[in-house]
Amino acid sequence: MQTYDLSDTHIVTPPEEIALSTHQLQVYYGNNRQASMTDASLSFPRFQITALIGASGSGKSTYLRSLNRLNDRIARVQGEIMYRNTNINSPKINVYEVRKHIGMVFQKPNPFAKSISENITFALKAAGITDRRERHQRVETSLKEAALWDEVKDDLNKSALALSGGQQQRLCIARAIAMKPDILLLDEPASALDPISTTKLEVTLKALTQKYTIIIVTHNMQQASRISAYTAFFHLGHVTEYDQTEKIFQTPKIQATHDYVTGNFG
Ligand SMILES: Nc1ncnc2c1ncn2[C@@H]1O[C@H](COP(=O)(O)OP(=O)(O)OP(=O)(O)O)[C@@H](O)[C@H]1O
Ligand SMILES: [Mg+2]
Repeated sequence: MQTYDLSDTHIVTPPEEIALSTHQLQVYYGNNRQASMTDASLSFPRFQITALIGASGSGKSTYLRSLNRLNDRIARVQGEIMYRNTNINSPKINVYEVRKHIGMVFQKPNPFAKSISENITFALKAAGITDRRERHQRVETSLKEAALWDEVKDDLNKSALALSGGQQQRLCIARAIAMKPDILLLDEPASALDPISTTKLEVTLKALTQKYTIIIVTHNMQQASRISAYTAFFHLGHVTEYDQTEKIFQTPKIQATHDYVTGNFG
């Protein structure tokens, strides 16, 4: 692979209201001395989609998982993650509380082997929402927001495993938003989907920016340019460039970004 000067970076701070930001985030797996993520300082604008792009192994998932403390058991995460004026990367913070505010959807749709409605009510019950009507209301609202309601409303007791991959992924989004989070993290949510399901998912995500701040890892650069306002380019565990999506794809300032987005990388 061509070598680039890793200190050559261009990182903007969006002028919009910031929903979440990291300051010099470093991630070390196991006993590794070498950081898998180095000094990542990024600010995510509220009610926008931000895309994280970069080659395989560049640290996108490592970074994303750190944001809602999913790396706690497997890695040392240093630096600050600021959310509502609090550093949520502090050991004093209740991680379950963090995950209520910052939800996650994974690459492979992972519904529970339960009915469609139970997939959503399960976490609500665990969160202490005892009112049945409130739970049912949230099932309906979140399925509507995830653009799945019309397809499943007559069959909420059907097994979630009987849904198509694209429907399962929208159910996972519904499950995440039923908790009324503020921020949604998605790690390549469309990689297991066909083009039609992918388009549906993209339309859904765009509509969700009315209420949520979205951070999405994607391998698909067309997808990043279609849906995101800002894009961060990751390279070898560093954030190399962060700017408005249009700038990243049309006038990148850093050579590595340029080579990646033009397909001349590696
Ligand atoms: N659980 C883990 N234990 C040890 N090392 C890990 C672990 N997960 C990731 N890594 C290492 O951290 C680096 C970044 O990996 P990461 O999965 O974050 O990359 P990525 O950009 O998400 O790649 P991909 O596009 O393939 O999903 C890699 O060198 C990887 O080997
Ligand atoms: Mg990944």
